[in-house]
Amino acid sequence: MVPRTELRKAGSVASLACFVMLALSLFTTQSAAMGVVGFDKGTEWTKASLVKPGLPFDVVLGRDSKRKIQSCVAFKGWGLNEERLFSTDACSHATRDPLQTFYSTKFLLGRGMEDKDAAARERYSSIYGTQLTASEKGKCAVKRPHEKDDSSSVPVFSAEELIGMELEYVKELAEETAGEKVTLVLPNGFNIGSFGGLDTVITVPAFFTAAERQAIYDSALLAGMRPRLVSDGAAVAVSYAQTRTFPKPERHLFYDSGAGSTRATVVEFSTKTITADSIISIGTTQKEATIVDVLGVGWDRDAGGLALDLVIRDKLASDFDSEHASGLSTASVRDNARAMARLLKEANRVKHILSANEFASSNVEGVADDIDLRTSIDRETFERDVAAAGLTEKFSAPIAKALKSAGLTLDDISSVVLVGGSSRVPLVQAALKDAGVPDSKIAQNVNADEAAVMGAAFYGATFNPQFRMKDIRAYDLIPYPVRIKEADGREEVIYPAKSYEAEGVVRHYNGITEDFTFELEYDQSAVDLLDGFSPKLAKVEVTGISEALKDLKETNQLGSVETFANLTIVSRPLGTYIVESALLTVKPKPGGIAGALKSFFGVSTPKKEPNSTQTGGSNDTVEAEKDSKIQDQDLLTKERVLKLTARSIPQGDVRPFTGEEQKRSKDRLWLLSQSASRKAAREEALNVLEAFIYRARDLVYDPAFEAVSKPAERDAISAKADELSSWVSDGGETADTAQLKLKKASLESLVKPLQTRLDQAKMRKSAFENFAETLRKGNVFVQEARANLTAALKANEGSKYSATELDSLANTLEKDGKWFEQGVELQSKRTPDEDPAILVEDLEKRAKKVNDTIARLVRRRIPKTRPDKKKKEEGKKEKEKEKEKEKEKEKEKEKEESKPKHEEL
Ligand SMILES: *[C@@H]1O[C@H](CO)[C@@H](O)[C@H](O)[C@H]1NC(C)=O
Ligand SMILES: *[C@@H]1O[C@H](CO)[C@@H](O)[C@H](O)[C@H]1NC(C)=O
Ligand SMILES: *[C@@H]1O[C@H](CO)[C@@H](O)[C@H](O)[C@H]1NC(C)=O
Ligand SMILES: *[C@@H]1O[C@H](CO)[C@@H](O)[C@H](O)[C@H]1NC(C)=O
Ligand SMILES: *[C@@H]1O[C@H](CO)[C@@H](O)[C@H](O)[C@H]1NC(C)=O
Repeated sequence: MVPRTELRKAGSVASLACFVMLALSLFTTQSAAMGVVGFDKGTEWTKASLVKPGLPFDVVLGRDSKRKIQSCVAFKGWGLNEERLFSTDACSHATRDPLQTFYSTKFLLGRGMEDKDAAARERYSSIYGTQLTASEKGKCAVKRPHEKDDSSSVPVFSAEELIGMELEYVKELAEETAGEKVTLVLPNGFNIGSFGGLDTVITVPAFFTAAERQAIYDSALLAGMRPRLVSDGAAVAVSYAQTRTFPKPERHLFYDSGAGSTRATVVEFSTKTITADSIISIGTTQKEATIVDVLGVGWDRDAGGLALDLVIRDKLASDFDSEHASGLSTASVRDNARAMARLLKEANRVKHILSANEFASSNVEGVADDIDLRTSIDRETFERDVAAAGLTEKFSAPIAKALKSAGLTLDDISSVVLVGGSSRVPLVQAALKDAGVPDSKIAQNVNADEAAVMGAAFYGATFNPQFRMKDIRAYDLIPYPVRIKEADGREEVIYPAKSYEAEGVVRHYNGITEDFTFELEYDQSAVDLLDGFSPKLAKVEVTGISEALKDLKETNQLGSVETFANLTIVSRPLGTYIVESALLTVKPKPGGIAGALKSFFGVSTPKKEPNSTQTGGSNDTVEAEKDSKIQDQDLLTKERVLKLTARSIPQGDVRPFTGEEQKRSKDRLWLLSQSASRKAAREEALNVLEAFIYRARDLVYDPAFEAVSKPAERDAISAKADELSSWVSDGGETADTAQLKLKKASLESLVKPLQTRLDQAKMRKSAFENFAETLRKGNVFVQEARANLTAALKANEGSKYSATELDSLANTLEKDGKWFEQGVELQSKRTPDEDPAILVEDLEKRAKKVNDTIARLVRRRIPKTRPDKKKKEEGKKEKEKEKEKEKEKEKEKEKEESKPKHEEL
């Protein structure tokens, strides 16, 4: 406990110092992310939550309005008709085509085909009979067998690609909810949001190794996100802390039994006064924060709801086989993937029934070869089967492991909080008793399904001071200590298995004059925890030193300088390790300074900033030789800092994506989603075309349409509709969206004029009346207004209108009147099956102009007091000026109005 606290304190101070610097330099016009999306990517369900100012803090709903999305992707059809299904649609597809359905792919993340834990691979393949294969990097990938069974060209998807598709699907739901896009800016370790957009956080089980963490991060990159990672235990704890206060420190154990695994997390909650690092108020203020400190974790990778489902499925399959094996076309129902998918679905249902009942009957029609399953299972048998599969203790073990890793006993724990869907299963609750947890300590005071996802978004928000939420500091824990192995054999643990902020660890190398390498790996003490994962992490090659010092070495001046390298290793994303910066500092020693050294430090070019960071390959040798007046004394104050290259070469069983592969997979996903939207657009265009063909055919026989069309026109429509109809059935199915739209337009151009005649005829009468009324009222207005103007002039009073304005309106009315008269005349000579002479829309346009002009004049106020004589004179002049201006304006208007218009006259 004590060392941990100290370690973190040291880290916090460094972090704050850094933070203030960044805040000052970067955020003078700071604007942070507009929200955070939290993802809980579970084995069975994926959930997302959204924190965004102005929106309720809640989970993101699926397309079916459910609060969770099944972790499944399925493919349907091939080529142009290929479709991708997600969530429950995808899972339902399994009973039809299990080999095209990929579920619980989280099991495969970071796994290699050669990896020692075969159980994880077997469990995955046993779900839907998925065929696994090794990708180029030795990673587990899945085959998507073609119906023609041409196994040589079967598409292969990596786990990252499948998870990437699922995440992309959920990401889009979140973006639609937020009305905002997820940002691709990398969230850094400090409290700085990115510029606009949504930050993202994804939960991972605390036991995820670097390979698994890298794999889920790569999946997220494919989905267009750069998330923070947080352990699901820490996320639940943050969510727990959100509504509670801790005047005294409290320790709780969160027992989370999900579909894929069971985790126990010991967390200490406390309240501390911290130095506020709000960038809104620069300077240091003290405030209270809730500290969430993960003290220990324990887990079992096999104990989960899906393992229970598989136990029940096996029982159902045995029952089925023992009754019907003789009637089957295969030796066992187990050889029929579709039947097994059906039984798995049934097993999940049975498990839920057995959670509340002692007994469940099971009837499934046509499981295989049209034979129905009729059987029953009681809770006792189920629990016996679970015990026989060696699963029972696996559900209880994580508690003791978590306590051990925290160095605590149950007595130190206030409560054991149940989380996760499987924690409702009675045998799982019984496992708690087996672990010695008294009933009095069992608490069900969090939302078992949503605590992790809500906590994830909240955790993300704690990094962004723009969200004024409860101040919570969460310190997550990676259970595997990481050590560095130097080339000379020295070893040191640089990341103990303790909670910490995502801090940099700085390594110093004194007197270094050559390129060097070191290795990062999990410490031996963690090997038992690794569940078959390789302890090796990365080999790091640090280069640039030999090259930079080449000249000094050749001129034997290495002895005249001191060198030291600083490497900063960071755990970012949390639980993966990279060298963030590598710098070499070269300083002259007193005495023995010669030309090459001078040129190395660039002393002959004093303009050059001595503190500037330069890469090797100095170019000032010649100038250095020229100027030798520089005193040795000056040199002693010089130093040069060079950026080095640190290349990480992954050493585990599996290799993470290279940039190239990442790009290829991204293109592939992009093509898949493009083809999905292209297909949707094409289908819509085809539907629209077909519907229009039907409509056109109906119209031809519609009496109203007949009245406004000539026989030849109707014949043309019929002929075109027939032509298009046979075009559609002869292969229009494969035409692209543009062709479909063109075809529709070709028919539309025949129908549209008739539609116009019909519509115009319907509206014409009232439009004519309205227009006549508009003209009449307009003329009445002009008359009245002129009378009032005359009266006002006589009485030497102000008037709303000028004579010019009224003349102009009268003029417009006259022109409109003539235009209307002619139009009515022409229209009266046309038959209904001829195009209209005057359009309703044009009448309305002109009427509106007249109405608007009148309305504008009426709204105007009369000047209240009359100006005195002097001012009147001035006023007159100004008025005249105004009048002139207005006249000009009117003239221009008239010019525009007299321009040829696309009207019928
Ligand atoms: C390297 O680390 C040392 C010791 O902490 C420090 O004094 C020096 O400034 C660092 N150099 C660079 C370039 O960061
Ligand atoms: C070098 O140091 C000077 C004085 O401290 C400073 O003004 C300048 O910005 C520095 N230059 C670089 C490139 O850091
Ligand atoms: C060396 O410096 C000169 C003058 O600053 C420049 O023109 C030239 O491109 C440089 N050469 C190299 C190899 O950097
Ligand atoms: C003309 O003046 C009368 C009396 O003040 C008023 O009621 C009427 O609205 C005015 N007409 C117009 C068009 O301004
Ligand atoms: C213009 O005013 C007349 C008369 O008040 C009215 O019948 C007509 O609907 C109005 N037209 C428009 C386009 O506002």
